[in-house]
Amino acid sequence: MGLLTRDIALDLGTAATRIYNAHAGVVVNEPSAVAVNVTTGRILAIGAEAGRMAGRTPAHVKVIRPLRAGNIDDFEVTGRMLQHLLLVAGHRIPARTQAVVCAPSDTSGVGRRAVLDTCRVVGVTRVKLIPKPVAAAVGAGLPVQEATGTLIVDVGAGTTEIAVLCLGGVVAARSVPVSGDALDEAILQHLRRQYQLDVGRHTAERLKRDLAAAETAGRRLSVRGRCSYSGLPRTLLLEGAEIRAALRDPLDRIVWALTAVLDHCPPELSQDILMRGLTLTGDGSRLHGLDRLLQQATGTPVHIAQDPGTAAVRGAGRCAEDPSLRNLLESAPTR
Ligand SMILES: Nc1ncnc2c1ncn2[C@@H]1O[C@H](COP(=O)(O)OP(=O)(O)OP(=O)(O)O)[C@@H](O)[C@H]1O
Ligand SMILES: [Mg+2]
Repeated sequence: MGLLTRDIALDLGTAATRIYNAHAGVVVNEPSAVAVNVTTGRILAIGAEAGRMAGRTPAHVKVIRPLRAGNIDDFEVTGRMLQHLLLVAGHRIPARTQAVVCAPSDTSGVGRRAVLDTCRVVGVTRVKLIPKPVAAAVGAGLPVQEATGTLIVDVGAGTTEIAVLCLGGVVAARSVPVSGDALDEAILQHLRRQYQLDVGRHTAERLKRDLAAAETAGRRLSVRGRCSYSGLPRTLLLEGAEIRAALRDPLDRIVWALTAVLDHCPPELSQDILMRGLTLTGDGSRLHGLDRLLQQATGTPVHIAQDPGTAAVRGAGRCAEDPSLRNLLESAPTR
């Protein structure tokens, strides 16, 4: 149990909510999920417990993911979730706590106000925002303040954010709604179309994560589902190459967005990037072979940040603590 220092950092992600404080580092890293009894409206579980219930609930229970594409979709549920996660982490919010919150770089005024309102629910009224790619780059230890081009690609669950940064600012950026969730969906669709096999999201996600295992020793991946015609359970054995082929379309969309950002990048910065390469953050960057694909597509070296999923919240935390990084923060909207 510990007290939060005055400053905390929050990354309210589509798949995971992360909370950082100066004393203890990342204190919360849990699924952004809430299980609700739809008949009574009662919340039954939050975070990891709710995540485990997804796809296995009776008809009257629904597992809600209150964030969509990194934006707050259900303000009330997000507030309750955040309140609960802070509580189970054993922390309370001292007066005058300041929160630095990662925000998608294309968040609208409404999205920004939703962040502010959610923070108010948990008792935080002093809020600064930081564009997610900037936070991720700081968390990955990149020299964002220097007069050199830095290319960061954050592959999350809801969005892939691509940005070229220089002198503490965003020079070119693009956010595409294609990342981990879209890859799971592509696997789900492929199994339905090709084999009339219905599987849950968790199963599709597991197949995606197991691609590395499939590559070593040409192991085949087993998948259990339900035949969409007969309704009977069925098991299939799949080659890793087949899953990879199913992912080609969404991965191509990420590559196009990346080449578009590079096309709009001033020539001097392109030179820096060609030499120093790009850095991947977000847990979606753990997809087996993604680094190789992007390296081939851009001709630049690709590095995966250490602990890529928490890079953004750690970066936001550093900006909260380090006065020399304060220029990277933006004020939250006043109403
Ligand atoms: N080993 C792995 N291989 C492939 N994908 C993975 C692996 N580990 C995690 N993922 C994927 O990473 C995604 C979650 O990434 P992350 O936690 O960075 O998202 P997020 O920050 O919640 O989302 P966003 O930033 O888009 O709002 C999920 O789609 C998950 O399936
Ligand atoms: Mg994220």
